Amino acid sequence: MLVLMLRVVDRSRSILKVSGGVRCIRNVRLSRKSTQMLSRTSLASRSNDGSNLCTQNQRAFSGDGLGLQSQFNQHAARGAKPLIKQAKICGSSKMVLVGWDDGTVSRYPFVWLRANCRCNTCWHHDAYGRISLMEDLDIDIEPTGVKVSTQGSEIEIHWPDNHLSPFEASLLKDVTFKEDVRKKNIRLWGSELLDELPTHQFDEIMSDDTKLLNFLEDLRDVGLTLMKGVPTETGNVEKIAERISYIKRVNNGYVLTLKSKANPSNIADTGFKLGLHTDFSHHYHTAGITALHCIQQSTIGGESMFADGFKTALQLKEENPAAFQILCDFHCDFIQKNKHKTEFYTKCAWPTFSFDRHGNLAEVHYDHTSRDIRLRMPVEKVYQYFKAIKTYDDLIHRPENTVNFRMQPGDMVMVNNIRILHGRKAFQVTEGAERHFEIAFLDWDGVYSRIRCLREKLGMPFHEY
Ligand code: OGA
Ligand code: ZN
Ligand code: ZN
Repeated sequence: MLVLMLRVVDRSRSILKVSGGVRCIRNVRLSRKSTQMLSRTSLASRSNDGSNLCTQNQRAFSGDGLGLQSQFNQHAARGAKPLIKQAKICGSSKMVLVGWDDGTVSRYPFVWLRANCRCNTCWHHDAYGRISLMEDLDIDIEPTGVKVSTQGSEIEIHWPDNHLSPFEASLLKDVTFKEDVRKKNIRLWGSELLDELPTHQFDEIMSDDTKLLNFLEDLRDVGLTLMKGVPTETGNVEKIAERISYIKRVNNGYVLTLKSKANPSNIADTGFKLGLHTDFSHHYHTAGITALHCIQQSTIGGESMFADGFKTALQLKEENPAAFQILCDFHCDFIQKNKHKTEFYTKCAWPTFSFDRHGNLAEVHYDHTSRDIRLRMPVEKVYQYFKAIKTYDDLIHRPENTVNFRMQPGDMVMVNNIRILHGRKAFQVTEGAERHFEIAFLDWDGVYSRIRCLREKLGMPFHEY
C-alpha cells in the first residue's frame, strides 16, 4: 500500500483570509519519505478502500443530481455550518469525495478543485477573482492527498507539484453540479392583480433593507409594483434607482421628463394614448425595468394600463398557435429617431417573444409606436403578420388581462420591461395643471445584484438566483 506522508514547511505567504478574518495555516508539503500520517480522517492513499467509497457514492449521486440541492437546504434549514467527516480520492471517477456530518456525500472533480484553488497564490481574496491562469492549468492533474482539518471545517488538497489547495467546508457545500434548474417564482397575473398589487412605501424602502428586498422580490416575481409616498418633486426616481443600483442611460439622458411638449421627440411627450407596449425595443440592451413617477396627474385621462406579457403569450399559444408562432419567428425592427436636441437613430430587431435555452419565455418586445416601416419578410406574408399582431393586441387589451388604475401624485410604478406591457390613456393637456411624470430605467443586472447582496447581508440563502 502506498502511504502518503508529509513534511511541514512554514511559508509566510500561506495566509488565508477566512470570512473577514485573517489566519495562518501551515503550508503542508507531501513527501513519500516522511513518516507522519496526515490525519485520522485524511486519506492514506489512493489504493486503499477508496474504490468502495467511489462506488457507494456514485450510487448516492446517481439519478437527477437534485440530491445536492436538498443537502444544501438541510444545512441551511438547520442554520448549521456544514462539517466534513471524511474526504477521499476516487481515482476511477477522478473526483474527491467528501462525506458530510449530515450523512450525505459530495463529489468534486480533480480539475475543478485545481482550477478553483483558494490559496493566496491562485485566488485573490479581496479582488474576488482568480490570479491563476488557464494557460497554467493541467486539466489531467490528480491530487496526491487530501486532508480534513480537525474540526472538519476545511479540507486541503495536495498536488504532485507540492501545491496545496485549501477549501472551506461551507464553500464546498454551497457548490452544486447540476443542470441549471434555477427556480423562478414568477407569478402570472391578469386583472385580479389590481386587488393585490404589491404596494410599498417610499420611506420604508429608502431606510429599511428588508423592505427594499421585499420590494425587489415583488418586482422580480410579479413584474409590477407600486410605491406610495414618493415626494412629488423631481429627482426621486433617481434616488430610488440609486438606492437599488443605478440608472441606465438612454438616448435622451438618465431621467426623462414626461410632459406634453411643444416639440415632442416621442409620442410619450404628447397627450395621445400609448397602447400597451414595452420600452426600448430599439435597443439591443433593452432596459430591464421602467420606473414611472407621477409628480402631477392630468385632470382628465392619463390612466395607466398594464398587462402580463408572459401570461398573454401563453394564452395566445393556447388559443392561436399559428399566430403565436409567427410572433416567435419574425424579427421586427424597432427604431427611435430624434430630430431635436441630441441626434440619435437607434434600431434593433426583436421577435415579439424570445426564449431562454430551456425553452422558457424570456423576453417580450412589443411596441406598435416604434415598429419600423420596413418589414424584412416576403410581401405576401405581411397580412398574416399583422393579423397575428392584431390577435395578440386584442388579447392583451381584454379586460380580464389588464390592470388599469390612475396613478396619483406621489406614486411610482416599476415594471419588468421585458415581461410586462404598459401604456396610458390619452389625457387632456390643461394649462396650469399639466400632467408631469418622470421616467427612468434600470438594468436587471443591478437589481439582481442588490437582491443577492441584501440576502447575503440579511443571512438569507440566495443560491438559486
Ligand atoms: C412611456 C410611457 C407612460 C405614461 O413614456 O414610454 O409609457 O404614463 N409613459 O406617460
Ligand atoms: Zn493554489
Ligand atoms: Zn413606455
